Amino acid sequence: MENIELVATTTYGVEAVVKRELISLGYKVTKVESGKITFLSDRKGVANANLWLRSAERVFIKMDEFEARTFDELFDKTKNIAWEKYITEDGKFPVNGNSKKSKLFSISDSQSIIKKAVVERLKRIFKRGIFEETGPVFPIVFSINKDFCTMLIDTSGSGLHKRGYRVKTVAAPLRETLAASLVQLSFFEKGRVLYDPFCGSGTIPIEAAMIARNIAPGLNRNFAAKHWPYFKDVWTEASKEAYLEIDFDEDVKIIASDISEINIKNAQMNAVEAGVDDCIEFSVADFTDVKYDDKYAILISNPPYGERLGGTKKLKPLYKNLNKLNNKLDTWSKYYLSGYEDFVKDFSKKSNKKRRLFNGNIEAWFYQYYGPKPKNK
Ligand SMILES: C[S@@+](CC[C@H](N)C(=O)[O-])C[C@H]1O[C@@H](n2cnc3c(N)ncnc32)[C@H](O)[C@@H]1O
Repeated sequence: MENIELVATTTYGVEAVVKRELISLGYKVTKVESGKITFLSDRKGVANANLWLRSAERVFIKMDEFEARTFDELFDKTKNIAWEKYITEDGKFPVNGNSKKSKLFSISDSQSIIKKAVVERLKRIFKRGIFEETGPVFPIVFSINKDFCTMLIDTSGSGLHKRGYRVKTVAAPLRETLAASLVQLSFFEKGRVLYDPFCGSGTIPIEAAMIARNIAPGLNRNFAAKHWPYFKDVWTEASKEAYLEIDFDEDVKIIASDISEINIKNAQMNAVEAGVDDCIEFSVADFTDVKYDDKYAILISNPPYGERLGGTKKLKPLYKNLNKLNNKLDTWSKYYLSGYEDFVKDFSKKSNKKRRLFNGNIEAWFYQYYGPKPKNK
C-alpha cells in the first residue's frame, strides 16, 4: 500500500487533540510540531482525513523538504519534485507561503521562483510550452523556516472549519474546528447531557451533536482533491462509508440557550442544516434563568468577552454571576472559553486546568473545572 506523507495543520494549542483524532481514525502519526502533525496515509485516507478530522484546519500532501539558502537552490530543488504525480496538464497551481528566520525572506520572490520551477518541470514532463491553468486547482504552499523549506499541496481547498452548515452567523462566532476541540477536551460522552448557556450561533452544541451522532464534519462540503484525477475514485466510497457510520438512533440531549432571540433563530437554522436539530433544545434565556436540572452534566460555553462585546466593566456582573453558577453546579464538569482578563480574579475556585487557545487570531483561555464521575459509571 502506498504511503503518502500528509500534514494536518492546527491552531495553536490543539495539536494533541488532532493527534488523538488521527490515531483513532487509524493513521500512523510520525511527527507532532507546533501547529502541524505529520502522518502517513494511503489514497483513500486523504479523503477520510478531510471528511473526518474535526479539529484540524487543513490537510496537505508533503511533497518534499530541503535546505535552501539561495534562489538557485530553491529553484533546482523545487524543479526536482515530481509535481506531475498530482498536478494535471490543465491544472491551476497558485503558489503561496511564508518565511521565518531565513536567508530567503522575500515571500514574493520565493513565490515566483517556485512557480517558475514547477512550470519548468511540467514543461519538460508534458512536453508543452504554455499552461492555460483552466482545470482543477492544486494550491502549492511553501514554508521556509531557518533556511529549511517544506513544499506542500493543499488537499482541502477552503479551511476545514467550513463545514457547510453555517447559514447564519453572530457577532463573535467560535470557529467550528475550535468548538470541536473544546468538546473533545471535555468529559462529554454518550449518555451525558451538555449545556451551552451562551450558545450564539450554536457552534458548540452543533459540533457536540455531530460527535455524538458520529457525523463526519466534511460530508456537506467540497475539497480541492475531490477534483484531482489521482484521488478521483476514492471520494464516493469514503463518503458512502461515512454516511453508513452515522448513528441516527443515538439519544442525544443538548440544551442550548442565549439571551439574543436572533442568535437562537440563527443557531436553530444552522442545526437544521447540520442535520442535528433533533438533538438540541434551544431557548432564549439569560443564563441565570436557565433550569440546570440535570446532575453530572457537562457545561461547555464561550461567554462574552472583549471590547467588541461590551468591555470589562460591563462584563464584571456577568462573570460574578457565572462564578455563582459554577460553584452551585457541583456534580457538573464545566468548561469556559474566555479571554476576559479578570476571569481568574472573579472566579472563587481555581480551575483544574487551563489551556491557552486561539479563536482565529484572538487569544483566549479554556478554563476546565472537573466534576465527579457520574454515580452509575
Ligand atoms: C462569544 S458569543 C458566543 C458565540 C458562540 N460560541 C458561537 O459560536 O456563535 C457570547 C454569546 O453570549 C450571549 N450573551 C450575552 N449575555 C448573555 C446572558 N446574560 N445570558 C445568556 N447569553 C448571553 C450573546 O448573545 C452571545 O451570543
